[in-house]
Amino acid sequence: MQAIDHQKYELLPVYLTPEGRWLPGAEPLLLQSGASPTHSAALLSSDPQQRGLLPLSPRAEAQPEWATTLDVIFPLLHGTYGEDGTVQGLLELADIPYVGAGVLASAASMDKGIMKSLFQQSGLPVVPHLVVRRHDWEADPMGVQDQILRTLSLPLFVKPANLGSSVGISKVKQAAELLDALDCASQYDRRLLVEQGLDCREFECSVLGNDEPMVSVVGEVIPHREFYDYQAKYTEGLSDLCIPADIDEALADTLRRLALVAFRAVDAAGLARVDFFVERHSGTPYVNEINTLPGFTTVSMYPKLWEASGIPYTDLIDRLVQLALERHEDTRRRRTTR
Ligand SMILES: Nc1ncnc2c1ncn2[C@@H]1O[C@H](COP(=O)(O)OP(=O)(O)O)[C@@H](O)[C@H]1O
Ligand SMILES: [Mg+2]
Repeated sequence: MQAIDHQKYELLPVYLTPEGRWLPGAEPLLLQSGASPTHSAALLSSDPQQRGLLPLSPRAEAQPEWATTLDVIFPLLHGTYGEDGTVQGLLELADIPYVGAGVLASAASMDKGIMKSLFQQSGLPVVPHLVVRRHDWEADPMGVQDQILRTLSLPLFVKPANLGSSVGISKVKQAAELLDALDCASQYDRRLLVEQGLDCREFECSVLGNDEPMVSVVGEVIPHREFYDYQAKYTEGLSDLCIPADIDEALADTLRRLALVAFRAVDAAGLARVDFFVERHSGTPYVNEINTLPGFTTVSMYPKLWEASGIPYTDLIDRLVQLALERHEDTRRRRTTR
């Protein structure tokens, strides 16, 4: 909000509470730290004539200042109901342009199993893995465990298919730990992913654009823990970002090329960060994942990679808004009846 060009844009912040209420006009950071909202809650109308927020309570002020047409929405959201296509579906119904990927790309990129099969179909290298349904795991734990240990070798990574921020992810070094890891992941999703663990370096690239996307320089994430877990991601000092990554040009070019293929493989739009593993002993690169709404604070990898590639934060926001408008125009060209 501080970085956007205020000469060009008029902002209406809307805070989405963890319970799913939409609070317009309120200062998101104040609310997050416990202040009470200055406005009543609102809902986003799915009526394309409306293109904006409506007061939720019938007793609300007659015409709140935020009850106006919205030109573009910037979903600064993360995880479930934020980057999984659900909120994007609402914005499609409302016919309001929005920053970032659409419904399909958001949902497909959120599910690590679906994402990896799309990557494989596009010829991208992915780490050997198995998708396990929670239903099957609960019905036959020993059978599933045997199948995993027959197909993949330790160490393993066990993850909920849909989530992020490393929540619910365990590294399994011994077979005896596998049960707990599957139990843990199955609290978060009905689909689980078991992956071959690598001894690797981790790199990330930012992608920006719609049909002709650009790719940034490569950055490296260096976690100071067993892996890049929740603490390492969000606690100062538990990981370092190295921009640009200290790698040779050939590897950097390879990763940048793979990032563009990954962006197209899921039909992403606007922005995405593509994350890689490069195995230490073999130097083999793998695409780990694509994030359609990557961290977007001033200290986040996504904007930092663009800064290092010659696009300052304020310009980046401007470009993303323009890309949202461009994509909306392009989508409107489609016919939905004969
Ligand atoms: N197959 C793997 N081999 C080595 N490390 C892994 C593997 N899978 C995940 N990790 C570690 O766990 C972190 C989080 O996993 P990731 O699949 O990126 O989930 P999230 O969507 O939560 O970021 C990675 O950044 C990496 O440090
Ligand atoms: Mg990740």
